[in-house]
Amino acid sequence: MFDSQIGKWRLHFRRFRWYGVAVCCALVILGLNSIAVSQQPITIKVLMSALEATQWQPLVEKFEAQNPDIDLEIIEGPNATNLVEDLYTSSFLLGNSPYDLVYMDIVWTPKFAAAGWLMELSDRISEAQSQDFLAGDLNGGRYQGELYRIPFRSDAGMLYYRQDLLSAAERKPPETTEELIEISQELQAENKIDWGYVWQGKQYEGLAAMFVEILKGFGGFWIDPNTQEVGLDRPEAIAAVSFLRETIESGISPSGVTTYQEEETRRFFQNGKALFLRNWPYVWALANAEDSPVKGKIGLKPMVYAPGHESAACQGGWGLGISKTTQHPDEAWRVIEFITSAATQKKFILETGYVPSRRSLFTDQEIVAKYGHYPQLLEVQESSVLRPPIAQYAQASDILQRYLSAALTDRMTPEKAMAGAATETRNLLGR
Ligand code: GLC
Repeated sequence: MFDSQIGKWRLHFRRFRWYGVAVCCALVILGLNSIAVSQQPITIKVLMSALEATQWQPLVEKFEAQNPDIDLEIIEGPNATNLVEDLYTSSFLLGNSPYDLVYMDIVWTPKFAAAGWLMELSDRISEAQSQDFLAGDLNGGRYQGELYRIPFRSDAGMLYYRQDLLSAAERKPPETTEELIEISQELQAENKIDWGYVWQGKQYEGLAAMFVEILKGFGGFWIDPNTQEVGLDRPEAIAAVSFLRETIESGISPSGVTTYQEEETRRFFQNGKALFLRNWPYVWALANAEDSPVKGKIGLKPMVYAPGHESAACQGGWGLGISKTTQHPDEAWRVIEFITSAATQKKFILETGYVPSRRSLFTDQEIVAKYGHYPQLLEVQESSVLRPPIAQYAQASDILQRYLSAALTDRMTPEKAMAGAATETRNLLGR
């Protein structure tokens, strides 16, 4: 009896021992797992155009090698800026945005900041650290005095021309819109070139960016951000639209320009089919690449303007903000510090031909050795025109794009289109 009691205890003990071993093993596994989890890199996600996502790869590799605790994940989006903006916008509106960083076009800042989608960054960067950034680029990252976006690369619209053809015809590159038309027609008539001028005429953000240059070049304005006055139905604006229409009607621009974005116009020019091109500085490196038919044959200058007025470049550019919903603001900031640093910008610029947001890099020896026109570019950058920095920018731009497109494709007269654009814009602004 006593023996059988002892036997039961032994059995219990043996069972208990196996339970104990199992529990201990489970604890050890859990412990190891949690160590592994805590050592797992934190993923920082950011969305950008497919074109730039590819160009960022070497930067991502370098960043991850230096920061093994962070995985920088780039998500590829469409190439048109407004489409990328729509993706970010819907992710924020739906809540729980998957993006930790927001790679932002300069024109998005007021909207994203006003909507409360971005973290304030002023405390993360000192006055001295911000000194090197171009003023226009840094200011384009502010909203109501607060900083939300650190500039990575700047942009300004300019005019490319075929230096070889102009020299052969003993012509200087054009200063005015009239000269541009005249030289184009002359060389087209002599069969030196198929087309005179290509520009971005599709209904998208690039159309608005291109238009502000022509508009300012005709002495006009879009929206005055201080008074909210709208200038789209003024004679200067109508003259600007009429000039663009004239390029198509006079046969210097193919009617297809009304469907072209930056890349279509670049390929057109790069394939030797046009004398002049309006585009951003990134074109320089591509058009001068080994396999480019126009390598070494092109020049670049500030945009043409109407006689009696001044040249204007549209201020473009991209920078990084931190999403308000991220769980990892400090890691996101480490990415910003790395990407916007002078060393990273320099590497990126030497590889891609984009424009830095840091003043010092425009005169950097290695950069100037590769891109001799950068010191001159700095002047263009510093006198560029900002699109209206207002919270309703996306809607204002959409209105302008729709009416411009109607005028350019001959569905409305320039007067009627611009009257419509002005009225809708005033309604939007509550004027
Ligand atoms: C470039 C500019 C950007 C502009 C866009 C228009 O990416 O940097 O500011 O909005 O072109 O297509």
